[in-house]
Amino acid sequence: MMKKQIITIAGGGSTYTPGIIQAVLNNADRLPISEIRLYDIDAQRNADMYLIIQYMLEKEGFKDVVISSTEDPGTAFTGCDFIFSQIRVGGMKMREKDEKIPLSHGLVGQETCGLGGFAYGMRSMSGLLEIVGYVQKYAPDAWILNYTNPESIVSEAVRRQYPKAKMINACDMTISIEETIAINYGYDRKNWIPTYYGLNHFGWYTSIYDKELKRDVMPEIIEKLTTQEMQVADFNAGDKTWQEAFSMMSVITKNFPQNIPNNYLEYYLYSDMVVEHSDKNYTRANMVMEGREKNTREMAEKIRGGATKDILNFNFGEHGQYIVDMATSLLNDERRRFMLIVPNQGAIPNLQSDAVVEVPAYVGATGVEPISLREPISDFHKGLMEAQVAAEKLLVDAYFEGSYQKALQAFTLNQTVPNARVAKKVLDEMIEANKEYWPELV
Ligand code: NAD
Ligand code: G6P
Ligand code: MN
Repeated sequence: MMKKQIITIAGGGSTYTPGIIQAVLNNADRLPISEIRLYDIDAQRNADMYLIIQYMLEKEGFKDVVISSTEDPGTAFTGCDFIFSQIRVGGMKMREKDEKIPLSHGLVGQETCGLGGFAYGMRSMSGLLEIVGYVQKYAPDAWILNYTNPESIVSEAVRRQYPKAKMINACDMTISIEETIAINYGYDRKNWIPTYYGLNHFGWYTSIYDKELKRDVMPEIIEKLTTQEMQVADFNAGDKTWQEAFSMMSVITKNFPQNIPNNYLEYYLYSDMVVEHSDKNYTRANMVMEGREKNTREMAEKIRGGATKDILNFNFGEHGQYIVDMATSLLNDERRRFMLIVPNQGAIPNLQSDAVVEVPAYVGATGVEPISLREPISDFHKGLMEAQVAAEKLLVDAYFEGSYQKALQAFTLNQTVPNARVAKKVLDEMIEANKEYWPELV
């Protein structure tokens, strides 16, 4: 019988934890578990999540699975097999600043893109490197499956400090795009073998081979995208932000009909439109605080109040299933295919080898095997990506060297920024706002 696994969730209090644990339980035949540990620096969030997961385990009949929550890294990581990492350094309150400070200067204010993403990156690197350090110390054989954002930046930092870390960096956006396309235009995503390249939240599909239809369906999907905007799928139902994001895919595709884009390219290619549509006093962070965060607190409150029915209320689409599929692929050598964030090393042949890119990769018992695209990419995509890679690398330099100059160069090079003057203004405000979190820059 397969050894039962111990899973530690780093950022246990994350709003995504219930969705991930639900996926773990749904796949217990491929991923048998003996223990779930919630690790967080926030005891209150951890305690809330403990109640929710304990409730879920009972409801689903997993009486033998041990659940614990802890703020102590030794207790959290010693002897564990998998770490699912999803921390948010500074929480939603700092995300709100990431979004509002650039917007107050007329620039894109977003969680992972533009200068908000860079500010978040400077906070997130320290938190994630700390987690990777704990795992090296307490569970060196365990796999870290990481969702923590901004993925390109944190992956670059880990690549530098812990080049041998057993870590897989993944983003759910490509499956979310594929699922939304399939639902809108009447396909079954399970039949698809998509090919895609780029950086995280910054990439393009090159083909989507459908095994049942026996053809590349990307050209016909592009045709559909240009004539009929997509509606959000049920897992994003009623969500205005995601509706706008998927509508923007039509704008991008009309102008650049060679590929299906990642929706996040809107922030770089149409930053003016995005700023126009933004409310600088009420951003995505506000929506999430009043939505997902409040909802999670309410689930815990209901359990505390003794309720026994109608407690669980969440739907994150394939987010949990995707990370669970990675774990089972490692554990059972399933060699499933994922879009993963990996050092390039020739996967995109005409892009620098030390860029961190997002490409298809197979996952099995020996880890990650990215595929090489073989074909060189176009000058348009290459130019956009090279500027972004350089900006991200400068930001990571700034973090490790404590260099103000490198941070200013990174902020200036970011493609949502029109000039060095505004880059400096936003940087100086971000330094002030992030005093508790960023390394000192001199
Ligand atoms: P959240 O704020 O609800 O949860 C994050 C948790 O991390 C909080 O409970 C917080 O206390 C904890 N935390 C913060 N710093 C920590 C540290 N140093 N050590 C341990 N725990 C710490 O955020 P969320 O909306 O659930 O998102 C969680 C993370 O997952 C974010 O980084 C988000 O960007 C990322 N995310 C990534 C993807 C993806 O596709 N890659 C998808 C969704 C979310
Ligand atoms: C997608 C992206 C994530 C991002 C999330 C934001 O899932 O792939 O990287 O963190 O969206 O969602 P939110 O609801 O927090 O704005
Ligand atoms: Mn993502």
